[in-house]
Amino acid sequence: MTSEVSFPNGFLWGAATSAYQIEGQPLADGAGPSIWHRFTHNPGQVANGETGDLACDHYRRSEEDIALMADLGLGAYRFSIAWGRVLPEGRGRVNAKGLDFYRRLVDALLERGIQPMVTLYHWDLPAALHDRGGWLNPDSPAWFADYAQVLFRALDDRVSRWVTLNEPWVVTVPGYLEGALAPGHRDLFEAPRVAHHLLLAHAEAVGVYRSMGRHQIGLAVNLEPQHSASPSPEDQAAAQRRDAFINRWFLDPLFLGTYPTELASLFGLAWPDFADSDLARIRAAMAHGTGARSDFIGVNYYSRGLVRANPNSVPLGAERVSPADALCTTMGWEVYPRGLTEILLWLRDRYSNPPLYITENGAAFNDPPAMDGMVPDPDRVNYLRSHLHAAHEALKQGVDLRGYFVWSLLDNFEWAHGYSQRFGLIQIDPLNQTRTLKASAHAYREIIRGNRIHSSEGSTI
Ligand code: FCB
Repeated sequence: MTSEVSFPNGFLWGAATSAYQIEGQPLADGAGPSIWHRFTHNPGQVANGETGDLACDHYRRSEEDIALMADLGLGAYRFSIAWGRVLPEGRGRVNAKGLDFYRRLVDALLERGIQPMVTLYHWDLPAALHDRGGWLNPDSPAWFADYAQVLFRALDDRVSRWVTLNEPWVVTVPGYLEGALAPGHRDLFEAPRVAHHLLLAHAEAVGVYRSMGRHQIGLAVNLEPQHSASPSPEDQAAAQRRDAFINRWFLDPLFLGTYPTELASLFGLAWPDFADSDLARIRAAMAHGTGARSDFIGVNYYSRGLVRANPNSVPLGAERVSPADALCTTMGWEVYPRGLTEILLWLRDRYSNPPLYITENGAAFNDPPAMDGMVPDPDRVNYLRSHLHAAHEALKQGVDLRGYFVWSLLDNFEWAHGYSQRFGLIQIDPLNQTRTLKASAHAYREIIRGNRIHSSEGSTI
C-alpha cells in the first residue's frame, strides 16, 4: 500500500549523539576523567575491553561531522557536554579549553543553520564528584545546577534547547541497582536516593535557567509501553509494576508531585521517606504551559516491554521476555513501532499534553562494510520509516510533538556493548575513521527535504 504523510511546518528534524560515545580524547586539553573513563578502564566491564579513548574521534573531527550533518540537511543536532571537560574537578575551576570546544561546536553548527540541542548530562559524571559520593551525595543537585549555570552563561545566547539529564532511569537502574553501567553499583538502598537527587538536580537546573535563560529546557526520559506477556493476573500485575518502575518513576513526581505508590512497596525498607518539600520543588520545575517557561519532555523510544511475572527478579518481580516471532535488533530489542504511538498518547493523556520531542529513536543492526561508498541497511530504513509513521499518527491525534532525533548520527561506543552495536546513519571504519553515509542516511535526507515520508518503496510498513 502506498501512503504519504507530511509533517507540520517547522517540525524539527535532527540526529543525536553523546559526548563519551563519540568524542574520544576524554582527557585532552585538561579534562578531568569521568566515571565512564574509569569504568571502561576497569577490565571486564565492557565487551572486548573497549573504551571511549578514541570513539569516533569527534573531538578532532567535529568540522567534518558537521559538514556531514549539513549534507543530510539536519535542522538540529542533539549532543551532550562532557562535564569534566568544562569543570575537571566537577566543581569550581572552569577549564577554558574544554568550554571552547563546545563554543566552537555551537558556532559551527549555527553557521550551517543547524540548531544545537544541548544535553548537560549524558552519564559521564566527573570522577572527582563520584569520589565525593556522586549522585548519592545530597549536594549533587547543587553541583549540577552550578555546572549548568556555567553552560547557560556561556551558550544560552546561541542554544535554543537544553536537556538537563539524559534518561535518569538508566543512570539509576543499570548504574546503581543492576551494575551494568557506570558506576557499576548493585545496591537496592542506593537507587531510590540517586533517582531523587537526579530529580532535584533537574529541578535546580531549571530553577537557575528560569532566572537567566531565554529559551527552552527539558528532560529526556526512556519510555516503553509495558504489555503483559499473557492474560494471567500475575503477568498483568507485573506489567503494571514495570510501568511504574520505568515510565512513571520520574514523570509522576515532575507532573503530579508524587512517586508512584508501587515503588514504595517494591523497594520496601530501601525506600526513604522523601520530604514533601522536595516533591513540591520537583513539581514546580515542570510547570509547563506558562508561556515563557515552555518546558518539554524528550522521549527516547526504542521498543516495548513484554512482561512476565518472575518472583526471583528483585525488586520488580517481573522480567522482560522476547516474543518468539518478532523482528529484533542486534540489541535484542523487538521492533515495535506501534508502541511509539501508544507511549506518546499515554503522555498526552496522563500528563496534560506536554510539548514533546522524540530525542532518540533508532536501531542497531549488523550492517555490511562499505562497498563503493554504499552501505545498504534496509532494516534501519524500515525501522525509521515505520517509527515516523507511528509518530505521525500521534500528531494526528493531537500530541504536541515538535521534532524527532535519530539515534544516532554515527556508529559509536554503545556503553557496555562497546563498538559491537551500530546505531548510526553514518558508518565509521574503525581502521581509518572514514565516514560513509548508509542508505538510511540518504533516506533520512529525503524525508527531511520533503518534510514527509513516502512509505511505498522498499518499506514493509
Ligand atoms: C539510550 C542512550 C543512548 C544510546 C541508546 C541506544 O538509552 O541514551 O546513549 O546508548 O540508548
